[in-house]
Amino acid sequence: MKTETTIQGLTASLSPARSSRKIIGFVPTMGNLHEGHLNLVREARRLCDVVVVSIFVNPIQFGPNEDFENYPRTLEHDSHLLAEVGCDIVFAPSVEQMYGHKPRLTNISVSDITNDLCGLQRPGHFDGVAVVVTKLFNMVQPNFAFFGQKDYQQLAVIRQFVRDLNIPLEVIGVPITRATDGLALSSRNGYLTEEQRKTAPIIFQSLKEAEQQLKQAVNLAEVLENIKQTLTQAGFIVDYVEARTLDLDKIEVFNQDVVLFVAAKLGTTRLIDNLQVKYTV
Ligand code: PAF
Repeated sequence: MKTETTIQGLTASLSPARSSRKIIGFVPTMGNLHEGHLNLVREARRLCDVVVVSIFVNPIQFGPNEDFENYPRTLEHDSHLLAEVGCDIVFAPSVEQMYGHKPRLTNISVSDITNDLCGLQRPGHFDGVAVVVTKLFNMVQPNFAFFGQKDYQQLAVIRQFVRDLNIPLEVIGVPITRATDGLALSSRNGYLTEEQRKTAPIIFQSLKEAEQQLKQAVNLAEVLENIKQTLTQAGFIVDYVEARTLDLDKIEVFNQDVVLFVAAKLGTTRLIDNLQVKYTV
């Protein structure tokens, strides 16, 4: 496995794969890798000839009071994990390498779907993601790019700008990887205290409970309120509990698959999760 820290180095490492028309798979990450990331890499390995993983903590997707400075940087450990799952190239650029020294005057902003859910609580976040992912796509020029469904809204934003801007690659969404107690794996789980870690799986439990209630034809608004109450009673500060269509539209008709979304804080750690369920009455 090679590690590249410059765009030039990355281009040189990818050149043989490009000239022999190998299928390039790409997994963008911010490092501090866990099984969820490794499953993205395994999926890339399964479908592609060459697998590139980027590790870059992207400053422009963090809000002023978010955890950019403290976000764990664990390149050495991440590299060991990536070598074990068959990654070919790790791209770990510096902020200067990604953004240069001159001011960036271009933004990429996806409307509508970003004015909802996490977009309301994290202004500018998805623009920051769209910019860095577009830059990475241009650097790696992959055939396939892999993203986790835990960040469902992020995945929708990426699919949208890839389609709108005719970026020539296919985006693959990979199902959420969960701990045995149901907690969706996330780099931010590492911020939880021992006590909070025991409480955190209640998010997934409340989503599964909601699925059961919907099967018993409980009214959707009531189901969402029940999740909110369960989480509040368990000590979460609930950011939102919402249901949307698979395309993130408001739900106006019954008898379709919908996605239930939760964002809630335990102490200072914000956790998100989602579950696709049937909504029939
Ligand atoms: O999901 C993440 O880890 C990040 O948002 C991403 C896609 C790597 C962009 O920085």
